[in-house]
Amino acid sequence: MSDTKKGKKLFVKTYGCQMNEYDSDRLFEVMGEIGFSATDDMSKADVIVLNTCHIREKAAEKVYSELGRIKLVRNKRLQEGFDTTIVVAGCVAQAEGREILSRAPVVNIVIGPQSFHRLPDYIFSAEQHKQRIVDTDFPVELKFDHLPERTTKKLTTFLTVQEGCDKFCTFCVVPYTRGGEYSRPVDEIASEARALAKAGTRELTLLGQNVNAYHGADAQGQAASLAQLIEKLADIEGLQRIRYTTSHPNDMTDDLINAHADIPKLMPYLHLPFQSGSNKILKAMNRTHDIDKYIDVIGRMRTARPDIALSTDIIVGFPGETDQDFEETMQLVRTINYAQAYSFTYSARPGTTAANMDGQVPKELASARLQELQALLKEQQFAFNQGVIGQKLPILLEKYGRMDGQLVGRSPYLQLVHVMADKSLLGEIIEVEIVDATRNSLTGQMAGQMGKVDREALV
Ligand code: SAH
Ligand code: SF4
Ligand code: F3S
Repeated sequence: MSDTKKGKKLFVKTYGCQMNEYDSDRLFEVMGEIGFSATDDMSKADVIVLNTCHIREKAAEKVYSELGRIKLVRNKRLQEGFDTTIVVAGCVAQAEGREILSRAPVVNIVIGPQSFHRLPDYIFSAEQHKQRIVDTDFPVELKFDHLPERTTKKLTTFLTVQEGCDKFCTFCVVPYTRGGEYSRPVDEIASEARALAKAGTRELTLLGQNVNAYHGADAQGQAASLAQLIEKLADIEGLQRIRYTTSHPNDMTDDLINAHADIPKLMPYLHLPFQSGSNKILKAMNRTHDIDKYIDVIGRMRTARPDIALSTDIIVGFPGETDQDFEETMQLVRTINYAQAYSFTYSARPGTTAANMDGQVPKELASARLQELQALLKEQQFAFNQGVIGQKLPILLEKYGRMDGQLVGRSPYLQLVHVMADKSLLGEIIEVEIVDATRNSLTGQMAGQMGKVDREALV
């Protein structure tokens, strides 16, 4: 089978969260094994994959408009004598399954996020036997056992360590699209991280829907915590920085908080969604934490690592949210003070408990609240960035900038930094003096003549 695929091209468009980005990287590796190489040009692709997201209505609907465009591409290719196999993967695939085939006749294969390692076989069946295939199983065998060694060459890379969710927040589709919570064993993660470091990864972001609930087995079969996992990964040579996302307030244990003080490679950044500042709404959301708990966790984190940059997710317009509830959300944002945040209007999702709750908030009101909230968050983000002007920060240079001679990197606080630097420094951590800041990025100058410096000293 592999011979027939030599020279074939794969195009993947990725929607949604970082977990989907990770899956897409792995999909390229799986398909690489049967001779597919990546293309950025959809019209050159023998296989087109949409790796989809179901979290909000808008995200899910995007898929169907994209399929409309893909149909035109496929028809044009047909006229030129080429076949195209069209695949819907990811969370819309899991949620809508066979329905996609009837709504979008152009689709050949529908495959859920736990089964994409089987795609090479399905492509073969679709092409040879003209079958349309749907696989939305949560298979007993784990996809991770079937994925090839990592070959992705990226300076900053994601690594999924935990998947799925058992928390069932009443607004959320994730427990249905990704299944129950599962933590990968420590050794499996460590060997993947070593392969990535060998291929050039300098910064690794550990992923999970509830990454801090991680409890994978260690070599002795004992459950290891996320902090223990990070400690182990910090020993890997070549790996300079470690991050993790997304965390749940209830799983923010002391050992993880202390890890931020004790492990230099662990970056001072925490994404900790609170969703609503009203205890009444948090209860209706089934978040199982209240505001006091959240403030307490943040306080302990700030004691351990005073410079920690904080980020969060917030939903406005959840069913039953009054002006007073919304004001409490604004108040919590003022109390905590975020470096950045993601905020959304509530979107009713089929199959979730909240979709049938009384008191659905009119769209216009929710949008007005979102605007007010985002204005405050923008102010905080700008102030946070302004706050580092004059500081010398270790910047991991990740890519070329738009201007000649410019490189772009990230600060420990995940801020984008533009700096004039020789391209040989790409992939290095250099010390940069921050001279200017906008809401979205910083401008820096290489501090003195230092250039390449001792990385261990800077992380
Ligand atoms: N596991 C993470 C988040 C997963 S989804 C957590 O527990 O925080 C990412 C974000 O999308 C959520 O934090 C939430 O803010 C938002 N989100 C999820 N479902 C949503 C919905 N139905 N409407 C609007 N926003 C939603
Ligand atoms: Fe969704 Fe809640 Fe699970 Fe996060 S914790 S993935 S918001 S159900
Ligand atoms: Fe979207 Fe699935 Fe991620 S629904 S947010 S792609 S887990």
